Amino acid sequence: MAKGREHFGSGAAAVMAMAGSAIGLGNIWRFPYMVGQNGGAAFIIVYLLAAFFLSLPILLSESIVGRATHANTFGAMEKLAPGTRWKWLGFLTVISPLIILSYYSVVGGWSIEYLIKAAGSGFNEEVSSLFGEFIVKPWAPLICHTLFLLLTVAVVSAGVKSGIERFNRVSLPLLFILIVVIMVYSLTLPGAYAGVSYLLKPDFSKITPSVVAAAMGQSFFSLSLGVGTILTYSSYMKHSENLFSSGLGTAAFDLLFALIAGFAIMPAVFAAGIEPGAGPGLIFETLPYIFANMGAAAPWLSRTVSILFFLTIVIAALTSSISMCEVGVAYLVEERGQSRRKASLLVFAGTWLLGALCSLSFGPLSGVHLFGRTIFDFCDHLTSDYLMTFGSLLFVLFVGWKMPRMTVWNEFTNGGSLPGNRRLFGPVWFLIRYVAPLVILTIFVTNLVS
Ligand code: PHE
Repeated sequence: MAKGREHFGSGAAAVMAMAGSAIGLGNIWRFPYMVGQNGGAAFIIVYLLAAFFLSLPILLSESIVGRATHANTFGAMEKLAPGTRWKWLGFLTVISPLIILSYYSVVGGWSIEYLIKAAGSGFNEEVSSLFGEFIVKPWAPLICHTLFLLLTVAVVSAGVKSGIERFNRVSLPLLFILIVVIMVYSLTLPGAYAGVSYLLKPDFSKITPSVVAAAMGQSFFSLSLGVGTILTYSSYMKHSENLFSSGLGTAAFDLLFALIAGFAIMPAVFAAGIEPGAGPGLIFETLPYIFANMGAAAPWLSRTVSILFFLTIVIAALTSSISMCEVGVAYLVEERGQSRRKASLLVFAGTWLLGALCSLSFGPLSGVHLFGRTIFDFCDHLTSDYLMTFGSLLFVLFVGWKMPRMTVWNEFTNGGSLPGNRRLFGPVWFLIRYVAPLVILTIFVTNLVS
C-alpha cells in the first residue's frame, strides 16, 4: 500500500461507503417509476438477473483493479499496464464522475430547496407551478447547487476515514430508517393498495429487448458502475477484506433500498389518485402536490413526512456525490501532488462551473443546445448512456483479457485463503471475460442506434 494512504477501517465501513455511492437519486425517482411502467414484478425479476449476473461482475472487476493497486483510477492503470493506452481508461474515469457530479449536484440543490421549503412554509395549493417556476430562475437554483457541492466537498476534504467513512457510517443506517418510516406511513394511506399492485403485478408481455436494455442501464447507474467510483472506494479496502461479499452486500443494499423506495412512493401517489410521472417530475411535482393535499387533513403529519422525505433525498444524493468527488480528489492528490484540501477546492471549482451551466440550462441558457439537447440533458445523456457503459466495457475487458488470470485470482480469493471465493472464481471469471463484454457491447450499440 502506498505510504500514508488511508484505508477504510473495516469491511463493513467499505460496504457502507459503496452502498452509499450506489443508493441515490437513481433509486428514489427512476427505479419505482421504471418498475411500474415496465411490467411490475416481471421487471423486478429482469432487474434482479441484470444486477447479479451482469452488474455484480462489473462491480467486482472495478473492485479487483482498485484493491490490487491501492491507487486512484489513473494510477491503477499505470500500475497494471504501464505505458499503454489503458491510461486513457484511467483518465476517462477521472472525467466522467466529475461530469455526473456537475449535474447531479444541481438536482441535489433542488432537493435542498425543497427541504427548506418543507421545513419552512410547507407545500400549499400553488405547488403545481412551484417546480416549473423554481428551476427557470437564475439565482435560487444556483445558490442551492453551490450549497450542495460545498457539503459534498466538505466531507471529502476531511479525508477517507474521518470524512467519507464517518459520514456514511451515520448516513446509511439513517437512510434506511427514514425510508422505512415513510413506507409505513405511505402503506397505511387509504387507497395505497393500488400503488402496491402497480409495483407488483407481473406483466411479462411488457418485457421487450429495449426494456431489458433499460433495466441493465438502470442497474449500471444505480450501482455507480464504469466511472471509477467503485474502483476508488475499493482501493481503500485492506487486503484482508473479502471483495465478493462486499460487492454482494453493496448490490443487495442498493436493491433493497430501491424496492423500499418504490413502496414508499407509489402507494402515496395512488392514494392521491394521480398517475405517476417520470423523472424529476415525480419527486418534485407529484409528491409535493400530495403533501399539500394531505396538509389540509393532517397538517403536522404532512409537514413531518415531507421534511423526512426531502431529507432522505438530500442525504442519499450526498452519499453518492461524495463518491464521485473522491475520484477526482484521489487523482489530484496522488498524481498531481496536491494537498487534499486544494484538490477538493479544484474539483469544487470545475464541477461548480459545469453544474452552473447545467442549472442555467433550464432558464437563461435554455436556448443553448449541444447535439439537440440542453446542457443538462446532454451531460446526463452522455454519461448515463455512453460513458458509464463504455467505462464498464473497458473494465471487464481489462480484467478479463489484460490482467494476468493469477493476479485476478489472488485478488478475488485473497491469495487462495477464501474457500468460498475459490469455488466461485470459475463462474465469476466466465461472466467477466465472456458474458459481460458481449452484453455491454449490445447495450452500447442499442444506445448508439436509438
Ligand atoms: N448510483 C447513484 C444513484 O443511484 C449515482 C451515481 C452514479 C453515483 C455514478 C456515483 C457514480 O443515484
